[in-house]
Amino acid sequence: MRAILRRIEVSYPDYLREPVSILTPGDLQLGAPGADFERFREDVRRGIEKGSYFIIPGDLVDIASPSNRRAIAGAGLYDSVLLALEQYAEEARLMIREVLEPAKDRILAILSGHHFWQYSDGTTTDTRLAKDLNVPFLGFTGALRLEFVDKERKIEVPFDIYITHGDGSGRLPWSPLQRLHSIANYFIADLYLIGHHHKRAAVPLHRMSVRWYRRNGKMQGVLVELPVHLVGTGGYLKGYIENDPPWQPTYIEAKMLPPAALGCSEILIRIVEDDKGVYACTSAVV
Ligand SMILES: [Fe+2]
Ligand SMILES: [Fe+2]
Repeated sequence: MRAILRRIEVSYPDYLREPVSILTPGDLQLGAPGADFERFREDVRRGIEKGSYFIIPGDLVDIASPSNRRAIAGAGLYDSVLLALEQYAEEARLMIREVLEPAKDRILAILSGHHFWQYSDGTTTDTRLAKDLNVPFLGFTGALRLEFVDKERKIEVPFDIYITHGDGSGRLPWSPLQRLHSIANYFIADLYLIGHHHKRAAVPLHRMSVRWYRRNGKMQGVLVELPVHLVGTGGYLKGYIENDPPWQPTYIEAKMLPPAALGCSEILIRIVEDDKGVYACTSAVV
């Protein structure tokens, strides 16, 4: 698990009115039948237009799953076959890089998931993307601290994100949130993100605490309510494909699983200034 800090400059008083937007495009699985590349491109374009930031939760290139990679490594394939697979993965990676390139200064982190290609030099499609775009690579699970910086007023407001590519499966729309809910008891953060499930579920929790202040020489406890969100980051892999070969249904079709709600989540973070101080919290997930 890695921890990184990203500073985001904000200017007063705009930040009190305009929330900061973060989009989570991941689980594109380019290379697999049903990967909706155009929708992915459109979401990134929409985010750039809005001035959003991005977190990329892995599974971008679907050339090999963990079991596929083990099988390929043990199969003793000819170099020419491995090279052809590598070229296929590299083509998919370059398509994704082209989409992400105009957003690179606003990408906060790239994660790795289950699906990626590992090149003969040990790098992967995810680590190469992160390097090319000059974006921090967070691995499978990471702690991302955002620091909203108001230079003029010399204020720094922290906001902690727990993000994992994730694990598990479930038919229900809120199944990724059950996984996150259990981890939220143990990792303290302001926002929890999980990929992998290809679901855009979101739920707010309110944490309560008491802050103590000295007023007129007396200590006084004030109840503080802090909204926290658990969020599934979504995905771009269609479960049902028009006119696909009847002898080769998708995994989703074969298992009678519900179709994914394609796309990514948008998280809105607001900076609040009140008698308890200045702090950042999630205000909504779209
Ligand atoms: Fe995935
Ligand atoms: Fe995954």
